[in-house]
Amino acid sequence: MARSYLIAGNWKMHLNAEEARALVKALKAHTPKLPPGVEVLVCPAFTSLEAALEEAKGSPIQVGAQNMYWQEQGAFTGEVSPLMLKSVGVSHVLLGHSERRHVFMEPDDLIQKKVAACFKHGLKPVLCIGETLDERNAGKTLEVLDRQLHTGLAGLKPEDVPLLTVAYEPVWAIGTGVNATPQQAQEAHAHARKRLGELLGAAGLQVKILYGGSVKDDNAKVLLSEKDVDGALVGGAALKAPSFCGIMDAAIALSQ
Ligand code: PGA
Repeated sequence: MARSYLIAGNWKMHLNAEEARALVKALKAHTPKLPPGVEVLVCPAFTSLEAALEEAKGSPIQVGAQNMYWQEQGAFTGEVSPLMLKSVGVSHVLLGHSERRHVFMEPDDLIQKKVAACFKHGLKPVLCIGETLDERNAGKTLEVLDRQLHTGLAGLKPEDVPLLTVAYEPVWAIGTGVNATPQQAQEAHAHARKRLGELLGAAGLQVKILYGGSVKDDNAKVLLSEKDVDGALVGGAALKAPSFCGIMDAAIALSQ
């Protein structure tokens, strides 16, 4: 059966405007057209958004932000609002990424406010969830995913559901070179899908669930082959065209 995928690059605090432009250019050259089942998204730092958006214009590459604040404007030094992101033409926003949760100590209720602000302004949130190694070793993985989904999606309306993407990113797999096994990913994704169905009804079952954590061009195919893995959120391997294109190619092959 034909599958559909979203392959997203999280560039984190890398690539200035010029480098961002060059990478988008290389991705466009590799894949001037995408099959209907595959979407590609890149998420540069705020200062590189406009360069990436300009270069991506007219191509199938979508551009998202890595974070935002939930208020529309005001005295919030250092923050960027949904209206500001809308005004430059961003489509998606990564929210609740493990580095936001664990390095910047963002709590579940703040992430929920940001998710709700995305829906209010027609931006597409990519809600990241995932357990730490201690939580996995304590047998709490599914409980953590439940809590992060339940709080992160509180107050969501039925019309918001088509805008939502979820990314399962086990914290222990991010930037470590140790990816979850396809079985571990599938177990977490199947669980998240079941919960999304319970929380959001039938439409919740259709929400794309990306896997993230040490995805590379050589493990993308096995991970993306799992039934409930609908794409990848890629950090390190998204910073160079050959490795990111290899991951895109895996999705393109599996989509047909
Ligand atoms: P990684 O990062 O691919 O470098 O493990 C993934 C992420 O943080 O989204």
